[in-house]
Amino acid sequence: MKYLYIANWKMNLSFNQSINFCTQNGEALQQLTQHAEIVVCPSFIALKTVADIVKNKSIMIGAQNCSEYPSGAYTGEVSALSLAEAGATYCIVGHSERRIYYHETTDIIIKKINLLYHHNIVPIICIENTKEDLLQPIFDTIAQHNRNRVIIAYEPVGSIGTGIIPEQEHLTTVFEWLTQKTHSLLPKRHVQLLYGGSINQNNIKELKKIININGFLIGGASTSFENLKNMIT
Ligand code: PGA
Repeated sequence: MKYLYIANWKMNLSFNQSINFCTQNGEALQQLTQHAEIVVCPSFIALKTVADIVKNKSIMIGAQNCSEYPSGAYTGEVSALSLAEAGATYCIVGHSERRIYYHETTDIIIKKINLLYHHNIVPIICIENTKEDLLQPIFDTIAQHNRNRVIIAYEPVGSIGTGIIPEQEHLTTVFEWLTQKTHSLLPKRHVQLLYGGSINQNNIKELKKIININGFLIGGASTSFENLKNMIT
């Protein structure tokens, strides 16, 4: 099975830089989709233009966030409906940067997951630990939606942007647990379990040895096409 690579450009690539990334590397990215599923997540403002550039390619577009409300007077927010109309088929939710800097709670994350599924956008659900009582409401929410595709990204806070990757043994345990949990709670779904945090072209080989990891959520290292290519191939 192909690995799933999510390029989370955060606010690292500007509008022009995001456009240039895709115009300059569109063909090469397309080639890489022979080996991998690739989702690029530009900022809101670049999303539609990037989606248009890669339109006839197998590269998929994700948003980095969405509003917890369907529509209305919420200055500065972007709805799941708008994201779908602009060409997003994926959206990151529950990222620790949103939880920490924007005080997003599990309740807010659940509202976002519901809206995304409603608009046929696959949520890329970030979790930072395996505390069962904290995760149960999220699993329950996914279970309520009869959607085949489930993407969960384990991103320990201490590993995001720090250069520190958890021990192999810890990751093996976490991903075994997640595999068992999703098998029992979300049977018959196409579940993809991702690791995220300080992934780069040097450490990804070791991560690929952990059998229950199905893909990667990559921040900083995904903003360089060369790096991204080296991680995929
Ligand atoms: P990083 O970010 O790869 O820059 O550590 C990962 C993420 O936040 O998704």
